[in-house]
Amino acid sequence: MMKTSRSKPFQLTCRVPGDKSISHRSIIFGSIAEGITEVDGFLPGKDCLSTMHCFKQLGVRMERISPTTVRIYGSGIRGLKEPAAPLDVGNSGTTIRLMLGILAGIPIFSAVVGDESIGRRPMDRVVLPLRKMGAHIDGRGDGRFTPLAVRGKALKGIRYNSPVASAQVKSCLLLAGLQAEGTTTVCEPALSRDHTERMLPAFGGLLRIDGRKVSVRGGQTLHGTKVCVPGDISSAAFLLAAALMGPDSQVTVEEVGLNPTRTGILDVLRQMGAEVAVEETGNWCNEPVGRITVRKGDLRGIIIGGDLIPRLIDEIPVLAVVATQAKGTTVIKDAQELKVKESNRIATTVNELKKLGAAIEETEDGMIIEGPVTLRGGVTSGHGDHRIAMAMAIAGLGSEGEVTVTDPESIDVSFPGFAEFILKIQQR
Ligand code: S3P
Repeated sequence: MMKTSRSKPFQLTCRVPGDKSISHRSIIFGSIAEGITEVDGFLPGKDCLSTMHCFKQLGVRMERISPTTVRIYGSGIRGLKEPAAPLDVGNSGTTIRLMLGILAGIPIFSAVVGDESIGRRPMDRVVLPLRKMGAHIDGRGDGRFTPLAVRGKALKGIRYNSPVASAQVKSCLLLAGLQAEGTTTVCEPALSRDHTERMLPAFGGLLRIDGRKVSVRGGQTLHGTKVCVPGDISSAAFLLAAALMGPDSQVTVEEVGLNPTRTGILDVLRQMGAEVAVEETGNWCNEPVGRITVRKGDLRGIIIGGDLIPRLIDEIPVLAVVATQAKGTTVIKDAQELKVKESNRIATTVNELKKLGAAIEETEDGMIIEGPVTLRGGVTSGHGDHRIAMAMAIAGLGSEGEVTVTDPESIDVSFPGFAEFILKIQQR
């Protein structure tokens, strides 16, 4: 159980755990590269540990030098071994979709399973294009859902126009493309996060980027390298939102990733009237890194949609919480993808915030929020979804009465240490 209540004004300067997307990719690239990769700032969250575990099952030797430092002894993609047991991705969509791109092209058999939430999430978005490349993948519902079975085959490059702006789809196909004959090109309807494209050259890989189109040639050899993982802006977003739940608070997050495909949250908070200062302080493995400071202004409702959505897709639950404190109407649209996340995040965000007294309605592709309202507090559930659990805890910081999150365990998926931040904020 996690309980939060209205916080006094507070000032906080902090760092957040490593970026989840970059941590996954560092393990994956380190595992398929030749030589040693050392990852610093690794996120020891459950999802990234699932990725580590799966690649260990595929025969990759890895050492945890510290909770956030991992050394990987890669022996190339062809060095991966047939796993003796099913690969269990737990709750992690990134693990399963990216790993499928690798499994599809190596001459081994593997079974892939996950938790109940993974069992509801669509895998056809990667299975169908992988089959076009020559992959043999079967599974429940003709390969739409886990459990899946993969018999690795020689792949051929394709040109794929993805119907969804998804970094998981794009990255899966690029990883498959690295092993395919010829060139693989993925074109997406809007630009999704580009961490794969930024990390590949750090491992000595080549790719071509032309707007929303990315191409890789097959047969490349990657080489182990040193990766420093910046703080996760998606975790920082909860603390930035905390500063906006009452007057006179300020939050600074240092050494956090500022990749432009991830900073939609900052654009939106500014547009809503928050004071947002950003200072870029470095570049780690082709990823811009810096400091973000947020202070409350007179918040107003805005319309959030279009190409902005992939740039803040994971921040929408907490943005909805902030919108309850903004004057006027906030409309979130073009966000159907939320329905196939760890939970149906349109339904879970709307229903849980309603329990706390928010004026919020579900729409076909998002939600509409009226504000400002004084949230009254209550008992909420995260529905096993880390970002819903954290969003509700943040809502409590601006509520009249206490907010209880009955199932905060899922928070460890992406933000170990979140509870300690809440305690710090509440003790001021
Ligand atoms: C991720 C991509 C996003 C995001 C997820 C992590 C990634 O999903 O929601 O939390 O690391 O590639 P999409 O595949 O919808 O872009």
